[in-house]
Amino acid sequence: MTSEIHTDLTGGVLTMTLARPDKKNALTNEMYGVLADNIERAQHDSNIRVLLLQGDGDSFTAGNDMGEFAAIAAGNGPGERHVHRFLHALANSTVPVVAAVNGKAVGVGTTMLLHCDVVMLAQDAQLITPFVNLALVPEAASSYLLPLRIGHARAFEMFALGEPLDAQTALAWGIANKVCANDQLRADARRMAERIAAKPAGSLSAMKKLMRDAERLVAQMSSERIRFEERLASAEAREAFSAFAEKRKPDFTRVAQQ
Ligand code: COA
Repeated sequence: MTSEIHTDLTGGVLTMTLARPDKKNALTNEMYGVLADNIERAQHDSNIRVLLLQGDGDSFTAGNDMGEFAAIAAGNGPGERHVHRFLHALANSTVPVVAAVNGKAVGVGTTMLLHCDVVMLAQDAQLITPFVNLALVPEAASSYLLPLRIGHARAFEMFALGEPLDAQTALAWGIANKVCANDQLRADARRMAERIAAKPAGSLSAMKKLMRDAERLVAQMSSERIRFEERLASAEAREAFSAFAEKRKPDFTRVAQQ
């Protein structure tokens, strides 16, 4: 099977394109694995000076594949969940990461941005963190990074209500560097990545290590993982996943609180 992550290395920029547009680039275990492999490889390959993340179609990503969430909740998950390797690789990356976000960035689609060094948003970008709506908890160290970035009040509202944050607000709140015209996003992000690729890579890498406490972030991910896995196994989460599959609104009053 061809991968739903397309990669291209040109001019020192390794572009990783989420390429599952018919499913809004929802991320499968296979896709997380390929992303993790590439980010890990970049740490030791001097030809890769910048990583660039983007999505095909009308959305950056709809987040974790809901079918896979439902399978895990039913005890049929994959042996190794590559999402953890992906998130650790991103948190530990000393290679700069640029993200080009168009349309919806849901769940991990938004929380991964907190680990990116430059975030470029298209005008139509919407950041959505529906963890509580799915009876889950935030992941990717976002329970630490989002309040740190935008303050507790705004972070609580984003997590608790799960409503879309538009591009201009995300820019004003410091989640993004720039808002671009929809049809210019890829070119603008590419130009930014090329500008960074021309800088001294050793200096950038040393600067990133000073700016980001990767150990602290990975520790937060471990705490979140315990709660996340408890929540995945809850009746509330099963109701949320069934509702998505059946294209209806969840009814949490039907299930006992866990
Ligand atoms: N996992 C698996 N499939 C997904 C998906 C996901 N996270 N998100 C979307 N899809 C699929 C839909 O099931 C649909 O498939 P179908 O054509 O076979 O029915 C297809 O992608 C298009 O999605 P649709 O819901 O029709 O598009 P939309 O533009 O109306 O809405 C979203 C887009 C992203 C708002 C909506 O799909 C959504 O809320 N997805 C779930 C997001 C989510 O909660 N992710 C987990 C975060 S922790």
